[in-house]
Amino acid sequence: MGDHASMDIHPPAERIRALLATMSLAEKLGQLTLVNGGEGRVPEELRRDIRDGRVGAVLNEVDPDTVRELQRIAREESRLGLPLLVGRDVIHGFRTIFPIPLGQAASWNPELVEECARHSAAEAAAVGVNWTFAPMVDIGRDPRWGRVAETLGEDPLLAGTLGAAMVRGFQGADLAAPERLAACAKHFAGYGASESGRDYNSCSIPEIELRATHFPPFQQALQAGVATLMASFSDLNGVPASANEFLLRQVLRREWGFEGFVVSDWESVGQLVVHGLVADGRGAARAAAGAGLDMEMASTTLREHGAALLEAGELSLERLDEMVAAVLGVKLRLGLLDGRDAVPAAVASDPAALDCAYRAAVQGTVLLKNDNGTLPLHRGAVRRLAVIGPLADEPAEQLGTWVFDGDPARSVTPLQALRQWESESFTVHYARGLETSRERGGAGMAEAVRAARRADVALLFLGEEAILSGEAHCRADIRLPGAQEELVRQVAATGTPTVLVLLAGRPLALQEVVDHPGAILCAWHPGSLAGPALRDLLFGLESPSGRLPATFPRLGGQIPIYYSQKNTGRPADPATFLSLDQIPRGATQHSVGNTSHHLDAGYTPLFPFGHGLSYTSFEYSGLRLDTARLARDGALGITLELRNTGSRAGAEVVQLYVRDLVGSVTRPVRELKAFRREVLAPGECRTVRFVLPARELAFVDRSLNWVLEPGAFRLWVGGSSVGGLEAEFELA
Ligand code: NOJ
Repeated sequence: MGDHASMDIHPPAERIRALLATMSLAEKLGQLTLVNGGEGRVPEELRRDIRDGRVGAVLNEVDPDTVRELQRIAREESRLGLPLLVGRDVIHGFRTIFPIPLGQAASWNPELVEECARHSAAEAAAVGVNWTFAPMVDIGRDPRWGRVAETLGEDPLLAGTLGAAMVRGFQGADLAAPERLAACAKHFAGYGASESGRDYNSCSIPEIELRATHFPPFQQALQAGVATLMASFSDLNGVPASANEFLLRQVLRREWGFEGFVVSDWESVGQLVVHGLVADGRGAARAAAGAGLDMEMASTTLREHGAALLEAGELSLERLDEMVAAVLGVKLRLGLLDGRDAVPAAVASDPAALDCAYRAAVQGTVLLKNDNGTLPLHRGAVRRLAVIGPLADEPAEQLGTWVFDGDPARSVTPLQALRQWESESFTVHYARGLETSRERGGAGMAEAVRAARRADVALLFLGEEAILSGEAHCRADIRLPGAQEELVRQVAATGTPTVLVLLAGRPLALQEVVDHPGAILCAWHPGSLAGPALRDLLFGLESPSGRLPATFPRLGGQIPIYYSQKNTGRPADPATFLSLDQIPRGATQHSVGNTSHHLDAGYTPLFPFGHGLSYTSFEYSGLRLDTARLARDGALGITLELRNTGSRAGAEVVQLYVRDLVGSVTRPVRELKAFRREVLAPGECRTVRFVLPARELAFVDRSLNWVLEPGAFRLWVGGSSVGGLEAEFELA
């Protein structure tokens, strides 16, 4: 067990049993209670509650002296001396801010995502936080939903792989190490499917879809050892997740054997009354505890009504002890019961965190289009640079959502980074154009256009301010807000080569502007080092290698649009499709083909999942399978040659997709099964090999079991979810 070995000779379960035997009912209920801190002070009520054992965990306290004092009260003044869990939303960094999770996901690089979480954990642990409410592994298929920024994208395999990497990064091999945090996979389950992408809205997800798409990332987080889970705010198929026995008992405990604890979301137990599921707080406590929830965040119905429920036989002592044991188990794993320091003296912010923030911003940025080599810019060739846009020089906006502790003073903005090169290379003319990303137009536009006209290159830093995405910040229209579309058009119309750099918390519908700039880079909200990362990408010191973790629709009305759709009985047909503008006057009902498309948006996204360009080019060849007939218990070896055919180094994300051609339930047109980031020198050729276990071809059937069905499969290997080298095989 290393340095942090328990000083107690009893095994964990026995220790917890012994502890439970000494606890009063009030002390047990206290362990299930998570309350807000006092933001730098210890309010009298909180002091009293901790002393009386009425609180087991605190969130949102990040002042180290206050954390120290809270833990001292818990240790020295409460009867049992049980330390507190200290929770915080450490979502994509603490002091150093990494790209938003969606941006990290665009790196398709689990090692890098793990490294971001490791630095985040150490910086937060240094002030006494020991529990983070991350990773969020909800599937993000609706870019209207503000929290898509916090997701790891639309695909279960990608989100699960990266979510598990985050868990490893936060928790490490030994949760008791002073620089580690307990992680929390959230929001169990289905939260991402909120109707109309409006936060907290109801979710209707057939169980077959829950199991196939929404559960797997949580299962991966569990496999990575995640200590806690958070129940979703939302109503799932009629039963809010915080009181959903199917989710919390049947699936999580019985089927998956989860041993950590489940925390509610903020007041989501109290809100069971608002949902109309129960009449009052007492009913809420009964419903949540009965369904399998263990700890209550912010509301305190369990603490208030636990005793009455026990007395009335509406909550069993056995169930109560199970809840408390789950919480104590996590405290034990964290070393809290064995003298873990409240605020570890030796943990400090690592300067390498900034280097990691730079690499993550570089690798998470996606080159969406690049006409005629608009990018990279050449330092010697650019004399006058116009830097335009409300997001070119906003240290806070580039950090994105969920930044409570990040230090905007650590931000280097794109304008600052470009100015660092100014005198040696070029002159910078900065024109904000619009005050905010939402401004509907004003005097600044004309100045921006003038700046563009006088420049060799115009760089537009547009998109969304941080406040336009994140919790409760949903948008019904996901085009560039305010007058930004007009700004793009006017700047591009000057004839000066124009590059659009997007800083945004979601995929945007870019149909109206896509043709105007010569190149578009999507940087999401890239974090502290957005400036240097984007400058180096623009000028070719780095080659873009990010790939879309979520589909970019043409128009918001296409949502939901994702790559792993079903084929339908009438898939869109390029041979018969006519758009709104092509339909001849007087056309008859059937003349445009009765297939699945939108007349005004077609049937393809603007940029598909997995898409991303580079400054070099890659050639795929020589795809071969070890066998054309795969045994049920076998694994399929897949080999190909990847060549960097360009004149510069670059990274390619090689993606493996599969389609099950015939199934007893209909199967997606493609599913991502594996991916790998390969860095190749110019001209370099590398053999890439995947080994796909047959069990990865299983799917959820009509009886809701994962099954393997024999039959024909098609697979593709390539650089996006469209196209690629193709082969077929048979599962025996
Ligand atoms: C509500 C959010 O849904 C959740 O993700 C977060 O962790 C909690 N608030 C705590 O801030």
